[in-house]
Amino acid sequence: MINFDNNATTPVDESVLQELIRATREFSGNTSSGHSLGNAAGKYLRDLRERVAKVLNAADADEIVFTSGGTESDNAAVRGIGWAMQAKGRNGLVTSAVEHRAVLNPCEWLGKHGFNVTVLPVDADGVVDMAAAQDAIGPGTALVSVMIANNEIGTIQPIQQLAKLAHDAGAMLHSDAVQAIGKMPVDVRALGVDSISLSAHKFYGPKGVGVLYLKKGTPYDCFMLGGTHEGGRRAGTVPLPQIAALTVALELAEKKRREKGQWLQGLRDQLVRELLAKVPGTHVNGDLAKTTINTASIRFDGVYGGHLLREMDKQGILASAGSACMWEVTKPSHVLTALGLSDEEGSGTIRFSLGFANTADEVTRVADKLAKLVPELRGQPATL
Ligand SMILES: Cc1ncc(COP(=O)(O)O)c(C=O)c1O
Repeated sequence: MINFDNNATTPVDESVLQELIRATREFSGNTSSGHSLGNAAGKYLRDLRERVAKVLNAADADEIVFTSGGTESDNAAVRGIGWAMQAKGRNGLVTSAVEHRAVLNPCEWLGKHGFNVTVLPVDADGVVDMAAAQDAIGPGTALVSVMIANNEIGTIQPIQQLAKLAHDAGAMLHSDAVQAIGKMPVDVRALGVDSISLSAHKFYGPKGVGVLYLKKGTPYDCFMLGGTHEGGRRAGTVPLPQIAALTVALELAEKKRREKGQWLQGLRDQLVRELLAKVPGTHVNGDLAKTTINTASIRFDGVYGGHLLREMDKQGILASAGSACMWEVTKPSHVLTALGLSDEEGSGTIRFSLGFANTADEVTRVADKLAKLVPELRGQPATL
């Protein structure tokens, strides 16, 4: 099996799995319990929080809130910060047309509950229109939510400039960093963000655990109600083993990025070069100079991507049409449409997202197989 679908999820690293097992065995207490078993778990949780804060360059370990993943962190930020800012008389939400559904859907929901939502357009490379951002962000804006890096085409957004625009207007800035970890530096202070979302399964950690970084002083109305866990910012018994695994995975992803990031980018570039050379009628969506190091969105003229993915799967090659959660949808994604691609162009698009376990030999094998498959599938009707 050749896995070029690492933006959907990544295989759990062996050392991460070992930590998951070790922490499950050694820390069976509830981190909130006052007895010795609970205290041991609580102490380890504090260590883990500090380690996560260090990787992200957060000013304070208490700015790290553990959640169930990217979707929860995005919901918590958009709704939690949105509500708290609404209480201060602001009801404007500004987001972008290429956000993940985990941001767009809560924004749409708030739009039905008293907020004015502006969706910023992007250019043909998927970069947010900064003139539109300048127009949209003003004294009524509660929150600007724009992702650091896109999951489908990999485009990196000008977060520092957006944070400045937001702060100059007295608004907050949330950024979905789910696809950024292990692919680019994520330094919360350098970026100037008020909150970011992470998800462990996108960086060789387990599914179902993530982080909401929440800068000290950021207005926040707790979204997940119940106990007083996580400093009253996220109720629910803390899943210590998963958090331990997330922490090891985060440290490892950052180490791998520093040591092997250029190599991964080279592998992605090799794939694009070989596909363009070996498969006629092939194009890159967006600009590779503006993307994360592992992602390439490739368009094959006259081919329905759904057919191609299924044939590739039969031959042991995994990739994706858009985001994994939209696999069953036959229409091109909202991201590809936002770039200005036609339905036909969007339908012929495949997302290749490489990981640290891939090899140069796999790249050549995929390009050779597609050189045969694509001409065979050209012109077949777009039905599943
Ligand atoms: C950019 C982005 N945000 C959020 C999510 C959701 O994360 P999770 O799977 O942890 O809920 C994903 C996952 O595909 C993503 O790519």
